[in-house]
Amino acid sequence: MGLFTKKSITQLLADASESEKTLKRTLTAGSLIALGIGAIIGAGLFVRTASAAAQNAGSSVTIGFIVAAIGCALAGLCYAELSSSIPISGSAYTYTYATMGELLAWVIGWDLVLEYAVGAATVGIAWSEYLNNLLVHVFNMSPIPYQWCHSPFETSVGGVSGIMNAPALFIVAALSLLLIRGTQESAFVNGIIVITKVAIVILIIIFGWNFINPVNHTPYIPEATTYTDTEGITHNFGGIWGILGAAGTVFFAFIGFDAVSTAAQETKNPKTAMPIGILGSLAICTVLYILFAHVLTGLAPVEFFRNNGKEASVVAAIQNFMPGYEWLGKLVTVAILAGFSSVILVMLLGQSRVFYSMSKDGLLPRVFSDLHPKYKTPYKANLIILVLVAAFAAFVPGNIVGDMTSIGTLFAFILVCAAVIVLRKTEPNLVREFKTPWVPFLPILGIVVCLAMILGLHWTNWLRLIGWLAIGFVIYFGYSKKHSKLNTKGITVDPVDPPAPKL
Ligand code: ALA
Repeated sequence: MGLFTKKSITQLLADASESEKTLKRTLTAGSLIALGIGAIIGAGLFVRTASAAAQNAGSSVTIGFIVAAIGCALAGLCYAELSSSIPISGSAYTYTYATMGELLAWVIGWDLVLEYAVGAATVGIAWSEYLNNLLVHVFNMSPIPYQWCHSPFETSVGGVSGIMNAPALFIVAALSLLLIRGTQESAFVNGIIVITKVAIVILIIIFGWNFINPVNHTPYIPEATTYTDTEGITHNFGGIWGILGAAGTVFFAFIGFDAVSTAAQETKNPKTAMPIGILGSLAICTVLYILFAHVLTGLAPVEFFRNNGKEASVVAAIQNFMPGYEWLGKLVTVAILAGFSSVILVMLLGQSRVFYSMSKDGLLPRVFSDLHPKYKTPYKANLIILVLVAAFAAFVPGNIVGDMTSIGTLFAFILVCAAVIVLRKTEPNLVREFKTPWVPFLPILGIVVCLAMILGLHWTNWLRLIGWLAIGFVIYFGYSKKHSKLNTKGITVDPVDPPAPKL
């Protein structure tokens, strides 16, 4: 038993059929698409689109969306195969444990903290921007003072330094406590939020189309140069590197579709429903995103997004460049606050699911899988996650946590694509309800596209990823390796395991 010990597939499927006793197969392809869109549309579209246009690509951010969508579709096909053959919670972490061994499973589990916990912090920060907008433009109140809604690493145009982002901290804390109560978003509430989000995106596209100023789209792909932002970071702007940088940034907007894959055990006929759910939600969002980005970059010049339209950028653009549509700006503000909340909830849920699985395997202390006596939720894990997410939300700028989320998720996608290739070789006879076409060509292409997006992100993000993984190695060799159930007992199922949590 060592670093490359793998969980046996038989063992995993035994775990799955155990929890299957408590989960009902009720989801259809349609409900999976709704689940996907509920988790997908959020800060990526309403904050990071403008940021990518400003820093990297101008109007060609639309091409960045296409690149990101291709990477996600390829990874999505791999997720669909793995989730239909290893239908158990834990997502990419579980797949990696079965295919590439414990060390890489740890790496991916640790890396998923970037996707889920840091991702939740990013959306929390976006929520804070739009809350200020709500106070000022909908309720005609004064905004929250700059220093209390920005991290210490940010300074206003007037020279005020941030102290902490209190609203971001508030929303993350409130939703974590909700999660502890086991308040599951009902399908009905999720349905309403999905319809609202899609409706406002469509309204902006339709009404905004008439206000597109062709000058803002000329040239559509800006000439390759560089842009130094207010924090002194120089980005590639324009040309192919600008597009790849934008792709890495707006990739954030697609994160969440993989959450669909974790519902495999609750899906009727996962063989067809899973790929339709994953790829269907991706396809709908891609079309909406491209049209939306085309309109947004047509409304205002890049300089606007670099300077005054930096925060709550979409509403700022509507208010300044769509006269007569102030009501739309207000509607978007209210709707998006609810929309962001549902994304944060899904991410916090995803994080506790991953920590729960890692703790059951002994890679994290047992406290992460302790269930609340009444609510049957992993409440201690939720509280620890709350502290982690709150720290990022309150003290780190949105752009930094956003790019950390993107790079962490891209790395996870690469491992998922590789897992499909490895599993086809090591477990050729495994029943795969859905098979990724053209293996290994498609997964390899997925790896290449995700790698290209990582390269497009600023090098400081590569360093942050390496630093994050280094901390993970210290924890693995200091704690997890010694406590791993697979390494110490050679078993994965604890005979006195409590029932699966209500997640
Ligand atoms: N895709 C999600 C968002 O954009 C994470 O907020």
